[in-house]
Amino acid sequence: MIGAPVITIDGPSGSGKGTVSRLVARALGWHLLDSGALYRLTGLAGALAGLAPGDEEAHARAALAMDVRFGADAAGEPTVLLDGRDVTQAIRTEAAGERASQVASFKAVRHALLERQRRFAEPPGLVADGRDMGSVIFPSAPLKVFLTASVEERAARRFRQLKSAGINAILAAVTADIASRDARDSGRAVAPLVAAADAVTLDTTRLDAESAARQILARAAERGLDRPGSGFRPL
Ligand code: C5P
Repeated sequence: MIGAPVITIDGPSGSGKGTVSRLVARALGWHLLDSGALYRLTGLAGALAGLAPGDEEAHARAALAMDVRFGADAAGEPTVLLDGRDVTQAIRTEAAGERASQVASFKAVRHALLERQRRFAEPPGLVADGRDMGSVIFPSAPLKVFLTASVEERAARRFRQLKSAGINAILAAVTADIASRDARDSGRAVAPLVAAADAVTLDTTRLDAESAARQILARAAERGLDRPGSGFRPL
């Protein structure tokens, strides 16, 4: 049961989903779901418990059992606790992304995370960031967006992000990694990365996050999602 309006923002790694989703959620005064973090947390929970990477059922149990707390630090930056432990940085590494992409291909894991994701749809509304938000988790969302960008641009963004987080990376390796993650996310049998039929596609190769967010907010306004009372604050 979905209790509030939802804007879904799907797309591949580095398409700008995370930043754009945060800007849109902040402007509307809505909740934010970073669904990728849930797959990263499941992968990390599995690694911490010593699970074999290919053990689907054990990862599904871990996904159901994990205690996850999303919060913010004093500067307003998002934080994540897994079973009481601060894993904000640990889930952002390339290795964590790889493991997330592996466990995300397990049907049982996706099923285990389904209800947990839907529970984020609380008043006044939710901006849901992921791969299958519009196609599977919130199929009746009144606004669905699919963000794309060239693989080179996405790799360059990811590279800058990693560097600014103090994580050592090589651009060629990041590019190869993004390409292989794309192939796995788009080619998997369960909930592949695909634009929902009724999604609005935005190419962010030459569009900064703020401009992309403005375009999405304009679409939200067209659909009446910024009515007074929805908490709307213009960017
Ligand atoms: O978006 P992020 O890079 O944090 O996601 C990590 C991985 O989790 C992705 O590569 C993808 O395999 C998986 N994922 C998914 N479905 C989502 C969100 C993320 O399969 N809704």
